[in-house]
Amino acid sequence: MTQAKVAELLDSNQFLQEFQVKGWVRSFRSNRFIALNDGSTINNLQCVIDFENTDEEILKRITIGAAIGVKGTLKESAGSQQRVEIEVNEVEIYGDANPEEVKLTILSPKRHSLEKLREQAHLRVRTNTFGAVMRVRSKLSFAVHSYFQNNNFHYVNTPIITGSDAEGAGEMFKVTNFDLENPPKNEDGSIDYKKDFFGKETNLTVSGQLEGETFAMGLGQIYTFGPTFRAENSNTSRHLAEFWMIEPEVAFCDLDGNMDLAEDFIKYVLNYVLEHCKDDLEFLDQRLSNEDKAKPKAERSEMSLLEKLHFVIDNNFKRVSYTEAIDILKDSKPNKKKKFNYIIEEWGADLQSEHERFLVEKHFKSPVILFDYPADIKAFYMRLNEDGKTVRAMDILFPGIGEIVGGSQREERLDVLQEKMKALDIDEKELWWYLDTRRFGTCVHSGFGLGFERLVLFVTGMSNIRDVIPFPRTPQNAEF
Ligand code: 4AD
Ligand code: MG
Repeated sequence: MTQAKVAELLDSNQFLQEFQVKGWVRSFRSNRFIALNDGSTINNLQCVIDFENTDEEILKRITIGAAIGVKGTLKESAGSQQRVEIEVNEVEIYGDANPEEVKLTILSPKRHSLEKLREQAHLRVRTNTFGAVMRVRSKLSFAVHSYFQNNNFHYVNTPIITGSDAEGAGEMFKVTNFDLENPPKNEDGSIDYKKDFFGKETNLTVSGQLEGETFAMGLGQIYTFGPTFRAENSNTSRHLAEFWMIEPEVAFCDLDGNMDLAEDFIKYVLNYVLEHCKDDLEFLDQRLSNEDKAKPKAERSEMSLLEKLHFVIDNNFKRVSYTEAIDILKDSKPNKKKKFNYIIEEWGADLQSEHERFLVEKHFKSPVILFDYPADIKAFYMRLNEDGKTVRAMDILFPGIGEIVGGSQREERLDVLQEKMKALDIDEKELWWYLDTRRFGTCVHSGFGLGFERLVLFVTGMSNIRDVIPFPRTPQNAEF
């Protein structure tokens, strides 16, 4: 039986006679008390051993990190830390953990920094913080599917290996099955690095959008949820080289409909985890507040984690055009004390994350949807506005995160799209299949991409994106 199941039965007043829990020893003291955890909940199960009647050999093997099973009965706990404890009748040891070796790992019972935990990413799942984050991540992915399935969207698996660069940003990892002994050659005898996948040039996908669009043009409403790769060498706490993206795409939907969908979707998944991850979120909330207390006053966050989640759920996202946002930024004065030391932007420039955070955290004090960006700083597929210089793009900006969603209404007019591709030197021959959607029954359609790890980052209050994915891939970290 799992610990979570035991707690569930207790909540419905079903008192258990005898049961067994199997898990890993988190701590062990006075030869009598074991804190056991099986991963199903943040709360350790306090086990009380009758050490006089337990074999000494077994007692010796109950060490931190060992895998054990305990059989016993529940009783009210005398301690203040937990409601119940298990009075153990029988202990079984499944896997020992040598205390001398454990001392050298992050399993040892002292505070380890998150950087240290990353070095042992295969063991960090046994810590309270990382266990809580991973349970919340799992529930969030279920909520993503449940939202779209409940709203009649179809789940589509778009290719991981692809010939196209959806974002046109050239940040792709090449895929190769190159025969090093006998590589393909150019006419002049040099190696032809382009023909690296059975004679074709291919990459790991940066987005499933273009393929997703073709499916929306037949299934109506679709979403993808899969791994995405970006070969950008950015060493920030918001970027990974491998991340998961959720990309809905909807036929007969314009930019306003796209904003409504994104806002409704985000609020649904946040409500879902508030309801289903209470213990883990309370733990993470407490963790953040302890971390905050250690900081100088000026750097402390104004809201607790749970307040931040409610801040997003309870506020209407403020919808602001790019042009209005630039005017606001131009009018604002840099303020060194308040951390925001932005430079005033001119129309046409891309916003930096400090501009985005200023708009959300200081100016509007609500999540913001920025729309109608300059065409020159956005991808080729976005719908050109009547002014001829802006496109129907939207970015959703969150407190503490900056951009969490990027999306747009798509250019549905074949001639305008062809012209744009020509101007950007994008070969029509490579995207003939994409252009077919505009040739045969084109229609207004829109979609967006939400970076799953940025969502997990926001929900858990962690500060580094490397701590919300099981095995982070960054320029420094691809060991596991
Ligand atoms: O803004 P992006 O690049 O948009 C697209 O890829 C579109 N094709 C989406 C669409 O319209 N279907 O990326 C979308 C989101 C960003 O807002 C961000 O949350 C996340 O993906 N993202 C990253 N997350 C982690 N690490 C990275 N390197 C990321 N790059 C983008
Ligand atoms: Mg973007």
